[in-house]
Amino acid sequence: MRSKIAGIGHYVPERIVKNEELAKHMDTTNEWIIERTGIEERRYAAKHEETPTTMGAIASRIAIERAGIQPEDVDFIIFATISPDYYFPGCGVLLQRALGITKTEIGALDIRNQCSGFVYGLSVADQFIRSGMYKNILLVGSEMHSMGLDFSDEGRAVTVIFGDGAGAVLLQPTEEEGKGVLITCLHSDGTHAEELAMINPGSHGGYHLGPEKYGYPPHDSFGGVFVTQKMVDDNLLTPNMTGQLVFKTAVVKFPEVIKEALTKTGLTSEDIDLLVPHQANLRISQFIQKVMRLPDEKVVNNIQKYGNTTAASIPIALSEAWESGRVKDGDLICLAAFGSGFTWGSALIRW
Ligand code: COA
Repeated sequence: MRSKIAGIGHYVPERIVKNEELAKHMDTTNEWIIERTGIEERRYAAKHEETPTTMGAIASRIAIERAGIQPEDVDFIIFATISPDYYFPGCGVLLQRALGITKTEIGALDIRNQCSGFVYGLSVADQFIRSGMYKNILLVGSEMHSMGLDFSDEGRAVTVIFGDGAGAVLLQPTEEEGKGVLITCLHSDGTHAEELAMINPGSHGGYHLGPEKYGYPPHDSFGGVFVTQKMVDDNLLTPNMTGQLVFKTAVVKFPEVIKEALTKTGLTSEDIDLLVPHQANLRISQFIQKVMRLPDEKVVNNIQKYGNTTAASIPIALSEAWESGRVKDGDLICLAAFGSGFTWGSALIRW
C-alpha cells in the first residue's frame, strides 16, 4: 500500500507587496532583489485577521473538498510551519478547531523543519498510511513571515526574500499499481544550525552562544529570561542568515538528494515529468535545473510572485501546477527542499 495525494489546495493573501514598496522602508532596490533572487513581489497576510492557521484552513478546505471528503473524515493533521500563531500549542490543534472538527479520534502533529517541513511532513504521513494507521491525513504548510521580519536596513538580505501563504494536501491510501508516493529521502546536518535561524525567543539561555550577548540575568535568578530587554534593544528577535553559505550548500544538496531518490527507485532524471523545488531563490532552482538537465517546462518556479514561503512553498507551487494542468495522471513528480537546520529532503510521487 502507498499513499497518494487525493486533494490539493493553496491560499495566498490578497495584499501584494512589490519590491519597490520594500525599497521605501529599507536600503534596497527592485533591481538588486530581482538579480539576486528572482523575486518580483510577495504576499503579506492581513494583520489582526489572518494567521498561519486561518490561511492553512482555507487551503485545507480546498484540498479536502477536492479529495471528495468532509473535514470530519480527516483522521490525522500534520502542520508544518516556522511562524506559528502561538509558541504553544501548535497550529495542528488550531487548524482542527478552525475546520470545525469536533471528534477527538484524531491526532494533530506540528512539524518545525523550516523549508523542508513539507517534505518531512509528507514522509511522516506516508509512513502512517503505509502502516495502515490512518486513512485521511491532512498535511499543511503555512507561513506568516511578514510578522517576524526586520524591516530596517540591517534585515534587508533576509526580509526581501520571504512571503506569506499556505498550501495543503489530503493523503489517502492507494493500491493502484505503481501510483502514489514512491520514496521520501530525509537528511539533516546540525553543524550550521545558527547560520539560518531565529534563535530568540528561546530557552537557550546563552548556552553555546554566550549569555552576555543576549542579556541573560544570572543563572540562579528566576523567570523573565525568555525575552530579555537586550534582545529587544539589539534587534535580536528576528531571523538571521549567512546567505552565501546557505546558497553554496543548497546548490549541492538539492541535486544530491534528488539523485538519491532516483537511484533508489531505479529511475533517472529523464523520467521526471515535473520538478517542484522549494522556492528558496530562483538562482538556486535554475542551478538545480541545469545540473539535472531538465527543460524549462519540467520545472515549477513561482518565487517571482510569492517569494520564499518556507514550508508552504512546495504545496503552493504543486497546487498551482496541478490547477494549471501541468500535473497529469501517471506523471512522475519530484519534490525537493533544503533549508535551515540544515535539513533537506526529496520525494518522488507517481501521480
Ligand atoms: N538590497 C540591496 N543590497 C543588499 C541586500 C538587499 N536586500 N541584501 C544584501 N545586500 C548587500 C550586502 O550588504 C552586500 O553589500 P556589500 O558588498 O557592500 O557588503 C551585497 O549586497 C552582497 O551581499 P551578499 O550577502 O554577498 O549577496 P548575495 O549575492 O549572496 O545574495 C542572498 C544574498 C541572500 C540573496 C543570497 O545569498 C541567497 O539567496 N542565499 C540563499 C538564501 C536562501 O535561499 N534562503 C532560504 C533558504 S531555504
